[in-house]
Amino acid sequence: MGLVDLATLSSLLICPACGGPLAESEGRYQCTSTSCDLAKRGSYPVIGQWPVFIDFERSMFRPDEMRTFEAAGFEAVPKRWSVDRLPAGLRSLWKPTNHVAARNIELLLARLPGDSPLVLVIGGGTMGNGIEALYADRRARVVAFDLYGSPLTHFIADAHHIPLASESVDAVLIQAVLEHVLDPVQVVAEIERVLPVGGLVYAETPFLQQVHAGPYDFVRYTGSGHRYLFRAFEEIAAGPVAGPGTQLQWSIDHVVRGLLRSELAGKIARGLVFWLRYLDRLVPNAYAMDSASAYYFLGRRGEHDLTPREIADYYQGAQHVGRG
Ligand SMILES: C[S@@+](CC[C@H](N)C(=O)[O-])C[C@H]1O[C@@H](n2cnc3c(N)ncnc32)[C@H](O)[C@@H]1O
Ligand SMILES: [Zn+2]
Repeated sequence: MGLVDLATLSSLLICPACGGPLAESEGRYQCTSTSCDLAKRGSYPVIGQWPVFIDFERSMFRPDEMRTFEAAGFEAVPKRWSVDRLPAGLRSLWKPTNHVAARNIELLLARLPGDSPLVLVIGGGTMGNGIEALYADRRARVVAFDLYGSPLTHFIADAHHIPLASESVDAVLIQAVLEHVLDPVQVVAEIERVLPVGGLVYAETPFLQQVHAGPYDFVRYTGSGHRYLFRAFEEIAAGPVAGPGTQLQWSIDHVVRGLLRSELAGKIARGLVFWLRYLDRLVPNAYAMDSASAYYFLGRRGEHDLTPREIADYYQGAQHVGRG
């Protein structure tokens, strides 16, 4: 079914400041709560065709910054060149298809309830690597937001305050986004809020990756840390997205980049050692859990949180430290 029409979701939209319902008139939205500061300011701003549902009093972003993201697509420094412009065959030396995500999206789609489940994509300005099947699925309706408008998004919002009602979606997808938010715990609490018990989440988050998106990169997680972040969810599947071979390939990029003070030189080096990522296939899962480039987590919102005592037993790596 793919992307839905925003008008069909109007009743699910809430104010990012007070949580009150919104009123829509000719494509403009306004908070209806009389005591809300955002309501007093009139309709939410609009950039291009995208309403901006951000409470700037509580966001790290300034209103005037949003147009910059619009122009640059969230790149901290707009790029003159990009591997995305290369033909697919050559591009795969730098950006191989994410088969792990593709497999997990199939698992997620198979578990979605009903005839037309609603799936929220956070940071969905671009289509994530390996998640194409979600947009092509016959049943799933997709709603997406990002910090900038794109043909794949419905509105502009900050994931720390998701402008959707509690328990309003059936699944949430957050791929390569949690490292860019200031407070991942708060963002995951918001994900929990918009999901009912039984709702699904799919996340991919970096562990051993260099800083990207410049000033907008804040956090990394180990496999256990990532699991604990999603402690309100029962695990369906979790593990490394890419292992230490991929991580080494990226490190070579950054060593060359630093030595030659050139991002382009680093990218060329990364392409030349593309074969390193095939070493991932030779590394057993337990070792990859200690040295992954990124982890995934697919879970179902449960009734009970994983407790602090349970998390040490959860450890999936290859280091045995005699915990009895
Ligand atoms: C590395 S990109 C990944 C984009 C896409 N999910 C993918 O996999 O291709 C990170 C995305 O997260 C978005 N983002 C970062 N911080 C955000 C926030 N606080 N709220 C919403 N989106 C955010 C960025 O604008 C960017 O589009
Ligand atoms: Zn409000």
